[in-house]
Amino acid sequence: MIVGERNTGTARSFLQSSWINAQAWLPALCGSALLLASPYVFRLDGKPHSDLLQFFGRFHPVLLHVPIGLILLLPALEIAAIKRPGLGDAAEFVLRAAVAVTIPTLALGYMLAYGAGDTGETVLRHMWGAITLCIFLFLCIPARRAWKAGAHVLTYRLLLPATILALIWTSHQGGSITHGSDYLTHYMPRVLRRFFRMDIEETNAGSFFSLHIYPVLDAKCVACHGASSARANLRLDSYSGLMRGGQDGAVVLPGRPEASMLLARVTLSPGDKHFMPAEGRTPLNSEEISWMRAWIRAGASPTMARVAGVNIATTAEAPPQPVGDYSALMPDILRFQEGQGPKLVAVSSKPSDGLILRTNDVSSSFNDAQLAQFQKFAPYIVEAELARTAVTDAAFDTIGTFRNLRALHLEGTSITGSGLAKLAPLTQLTYLNLSGTKVTAQFASSIRNSSHLRHLYLFNTPAEAGDKAGRITP
Ligand code: HEC
Repeated sequence: MIVGERNTGTARSFLQSSWINAQAWLPALCGSALLLASPYVFRLDGKPHSDLLQFFGRFHPVLLHVPIGLILLLPALEIAAIKRPGLGDAAEFVLRAAVAVTIPTLALGYMLAYGAGDTGETVLRHMWGAITLCIFLFLCIPARRAWKAGAHVLTYRLLLPATILALIWTSHQGGSITHGSDYLTHYMPRVLRRFFRMDIEETNAGSFFSLHIYPVLDAKCVACHGASSARANLRLDSYSGLMRGGQDGAVVLPGRPEASMLLARVTLSPGDKHFMPAEGRTPLNSEEISWMRAWIRAGASPTMARVAGVNIATTAEAPPQPVGDYSALMPDILRFQEGQGPKLVAVSSKPSDGLILRTNDVSSSFNDAQLAQFQKFAPYIVEAELARTAVTDAAFDTIGTFRNLRALHLEGTSITGSGLAKLAPLTQLTYLNLSGTKVTAQFASSIRNSSHLRHLYLFNTPAEAGDKAGRITP
């Protein structure tokens, strides 16, 4: 009887103590569950969500040094406390402080990725690393208390090194996002690189891919589809990344350019929300598009040196001709600068580099008669910005006299193109923008075959129907 009573007493106290224990672990476990669930609620789906989130998120790289410092201090204090027990209290404080700053640091990092639409292997590894780190820190609090009370001694002793490892791993992933994944190994001695088998090249230096596809992707796509940020989970910074594709699968189907998403996205009209590069970045020019198309058609090989049907001119664009000295006309030029009207702006401090005619401030009222006043400066005008002005086809009489003209903007005007033939003598003209005008295919053809024009834009014109890309280069 007595024995029985004692037994129930022990059982009750055991139940009580384990209940207290459970209570101690409960907040840490709830916090962990919440953290584990959040990436499934706010998915890093590669779509940008908010500029404001990005604004706050950009403080993540500033704040993150604080938890790193605190977490590294923790084992140092625990070890030092063996000799100076007072430091144990400091360790407890540092642990709580670390938890208190790690949570907002994680939140800001998440806001940065979610706001900017970042995703990709490295970003996801960094995120899960940080979540693991946070969970370990949460668990350290009850584990440390138990350790101090002499129970579950091993738990804290194992958890603390695990926390440090999680910190190192997470920081390394974060570093790879900002500095590129090869930051630490870039200057590694060759012997070591070979030892770690890091020199395996998938493409060779002289291949069509290396010479003509990779540099284009690198210059125009990798900012959003690279190591630091892989929008739509697509990496375009290596051949293997390109062939792996993105969140919607393959983007290159060898031999089938027209079915390849890569080509589809860059040949949409720039106004389309799926147009790439996104966010108004410099589009591919038609030459780059035609290389891409030909390369995919030829099988999208990483090593093939020549692609049938592509002859890449090795001659560079001729340097612009000097236009002569307009210094004598300076008083007239300066008069325009003072007024509210159109402006003549020097390309550089060298008069022989010519002048740019700007109408931005007065575009809606700027007409053929006003343009005719600039005939006086005709040989010196190398660029004419007449977009959205009131000029008509009669303007070509004046423009035809700008014999050193290199770029002509006529987008958004009401011209039909009947005077385009008058541009034929302008041998320096390499850029002509006729988007959003009423230019017909018939009139466009009068300029289309000109040998010097490299960039002709016909988006949103009747002529565009005859040219799907809306942009052609001879
Ligand atoms: C300013 C950032 C940015 C740049 C630069 C950029 N992209 Fe994108 N890209 C995105 C975003 C965001 C998405 C996801 C939204 C969407 O599908 O439109 C995306 C999606 C894509 C997809 C779809 C992938 C899939 O699986 O759904 C392709 C293909 C693509 N981009 C190709 C390119 C190419 C080629 C370039 C360079 C010419 C480029 N992108 C440059 C931001 C960018």
